[in-house]
Amino acid sequence: MTRIFVLTNHKGGVGKSTSATNIAFGLTGLLRSAGAANCRVLLIDTDSQSHATLVTTGRNDFGTDDSLYSVLMADRQTAPQVLANVIVQSHWDADLHVLPASPLLEGGERELMGVAGAPYRLADPLSRIAGHYAAVVIDTRPSFSLMTEMALVAATDAIIPVEPRYLETVGLLSVMSKINDVREGWRRPDLRVSGILVTKMDSRVKGHNHLLDELKTHTVLGRLLCGVIPANEAVSYAHRDHLSVFSYDPHAPASKAYAHLIGTLVKRLKGSAA
Ligand SMILES: Nc1ncnc2c1ncn2[C@@H]1O[C@H](COP(=O)(O)OP(=O)(O)OP(=O)(O)O)[C@@H](O)[C@H]1O
Ligand SMILES: [Mg+2]
Repeated sequence: MTRIFVLTNHKGGVGKSTSATNIAFGLTGLLRSAGAANCRVLLIDTDSQSHATLVTTGRNDFGTDDSLYSVLMADRQTAPQVLANVIVQSHWDADLHVLPASPLLEGGERELMGVAGAPYRLADPLSRIAGHYAAVVIDTRPSFSLMTEMALVAATDAIIPVEPRYLETVGLLSVMSKINDVREGWRRPDLRVSGILVTKMDSRVKGHNHLLDELKTHTVLGRLLCGVIPANEAVSYAHRDHLSVFSYDPHAPASKAYAHLIGTLVKRLKGSAA
């Protein structure tokens, strides 16, 4: 079964898009260097801000006929074909494909509110093509919206990026409870929280170390910690140049931390498949 990762947190600016794009790119590279027969990874952007789409494709003008919006508006029979048609190759790697977001998603979400079966409008067509990919990575918007619910319903592994700041653990528990609600309410037994990812960690800041220690010793959250990404200006420069952080500077602290995270995720997946 193709694992479908979703990067989610209703808090803004915690590194969801940075992590989704770099994890997707890094997975492709790791699979290739391991000699995998299928190295293709699909990145799905469900955020109308289209940041992940822009940095990986150089465009953010996808719309009615060529984006995730087209998939959500299609009827049930044609949705899988529409989905296959709107996927584009990224600029980052020929094996990294992108299902682009669109500013239209915001209005589309309002149109779908209360429509029967709306939460499955991504999961259903995706289930028909996911097998073509070694992995799928979904970026979400900073809210508990219908669009985020659709992303969670489609996913198998939720990763929650979080900044090492005060009250963050309280926020984390509420994200986890939302994910549990989707698993139980929409009967998605495959969906689980696979990791908590600390982002923008500055080890010179006392408070950051304190919160990281608190997280590590937390009875529920501690065992879910899957990585710590340092605050690193290479990430911002990579963003500006529409590059992955690995391509911008493979030796940057953030590149090393993302590479370590991807290795951890792959090991965990192998472990859970065994
Ligand atoms: N490890 C890091 N070091 C330094 N800056 C970072 C790091 N990770 C992310 N950033 C910067 O923080 C900002 C927010 O990151 P990003 O867009 O990935 O967050 P997000 O959770 O997707 O935001 P939103 O909720 O608006 O979608 C960006 O300007 C990004 O360049
Ligand atoms: Mg984002």
